[in-house]
Amino acid sequence: MSTTYTVGLIGAGGIAEAHLPAWLAIGVDVVVFSIDGRGPELVSRHGGGRVVDTLDELLAACDAVDICTPTFTHLDLTRRAAAAGRHVLCEKPLAPTAADVLAMITACEDAGVQLYPAHVVRYFPAYRAVEQAVRDSLHTPPGLQRFYRGGSGPIAPWFYDSAMSGGMILDQMIHDIDFAQWISGDIVSAYATQNTAGSVERGDKTVVTQLVLTHGNGAIAHVTGVWARQGTTFRTEFEIAGDGWMLTHDSIATPYSFDGNQTGAGTSLVPTSEIAESPYLGEIAEIYAAFRGGAVPRVSAWDALSAIEVAVAAGKSLETAQPVLVDRERKVAS
Ligand SMILES: NC(=O)c1ccc[n+]([C@@H]2O[C@H](COP(=O)([O-])OP(=O)(O)OC[C@H]3O[C@@H](n4cnc5c(N)ncnc54)[C@H](O)[C@@H]3O)[C@@H](O)[C@H]2O)c1
Repeated sequence: MSTTYTVGLIGAGGIAEAHLPAWLAIGVDVVVFSIDGRGPELVSRHGGGRVVDTLDELLAACDAVDICTPTFTHLDLTRRAAAAGRHVLCEKPLAPTAADVLAMITACEDAGVQLYPAHVVRYFPAYRAVEQAVRDSLHTPPGLQRFYRGGSGPIAPWFYDSAMSGGMILDQMIHDIDFAQWISGDIVSAYATQNTAGSVERGDKTVVTQLVLTHGNGAIAHVTGVWARQGTTFRTEFEIAGDGWMLTHDSIATPYSFDGNQTGAGTSLVPTSEIAESPYLGEIAEIYAAFRGGAVPRVSAWDALSAIEVAVAAGKSLETAQPVLVDRERKVAS
C-alpha cells in the first residue's frame, strides 16, 4: 500500500460525475472500475483518476471504496470491499431492502471497516442550516415539515424497476425521509399515494408520489416526489414550521428564508453563500476524514437503515392504500 490515500470509485455513471471531482479536490489518488467501460471517459473529463479492469484490481489498489453503482449491486460490492478490509462509502439508498442494509452493516462491522451512506442532502446549505437552527436557536420542535423534490425522471431504465432501485420512494424520497428524521426523530407510520403515466420505453414516464409521515413525537412530514418528462428543471422545496416560526427554501427562487418572531434568529440562519462549496465535496471530505480516524460523520449507516424502514412502510402503504406502521424489527439478509 502506498503512503498516499487511494479511493476505489466503482461505477462511472451519473453520480460518479459528482463524486470523482470531489475526491480529486481532496487530493487523494482515485482508481476507477466500471463494468460499462465508461471509466476512461470519466477520468478524462475530470482530469484525474486511473482506470482498472477488474474489481479485484480496484480492491487491491485502494484503502476505501466509493460505491456509485445501481442500488441492487450495493450489498454484493460492500461485502466484497469489507472482505478485502476496505472502508465503504456507498450511494443512497444503501439497498432496496432493510435486510440487505443490515447485511451490509454486519459485513462491515465484522470486518472492522467503516460504512457510510451518501445522504448528501444533509450537506446542502439550506438543509444544514435548518438542522443547526432547530438544534441551536429555535426553542420549539417542528410540528410540520413539507418537502418537494422533483425534476426530469432518471434516464437509466433500472431506476424504474422497484426490485433494482426501490422505485421513487426509496431512490429519491429517501433524501427527505432521512432529513425529516434528522430534524424530528423517528417516523412511526407512513401513508403513500402515487400516480404514474407514460412509459419508460417511450421516455415519457412520469411518477408523482406523496407521503404523509407521522413522527413518534406527533410531528407530521409531508413529502412529494416527482419524476417528470426529460427537460423538467430539478427543484427542491421545504416549509418547516414550529411554534411561531417557519423556515422555507426553494432551490429555484430564494435559496433560504426565515419567517418568524424569534429575535435574532433571522440573520443568523441565512447561509453566507448557498453555493460556497459543493455538498458532494463537503460530504466526501467529512467521510474521508472519518476513514482517516477523524470525527464521526453526521450520518451513519444506521440512519440509512432507519430511513429505508420508513420507505419500505411507505411502499407497503402504496399496495394497501392504508397507513402502515414502520417495522423496526431487524433481520439480516442471508
Ligand atoms: N446522492 C444523489 O443525489 C444521487 C443521485 C443520483 C444517483 N444516486 C444513486 O447512485 C447510485 C448510482 O446511480 P447513477 O445515477 O450513477 O446510475 P447510472 O446507471 O447512471 O450509473 C451506474 C454505473 O455503475 C456501473 N455498474 C453497474 N454495476 C456495476 C458493478 N457491479 N461493478 C462496477 N460497475 C457497475 C454502470 O456501468 C454505470 O457506470 C444509485 O444507488 C442511485 O440511487 C444518488
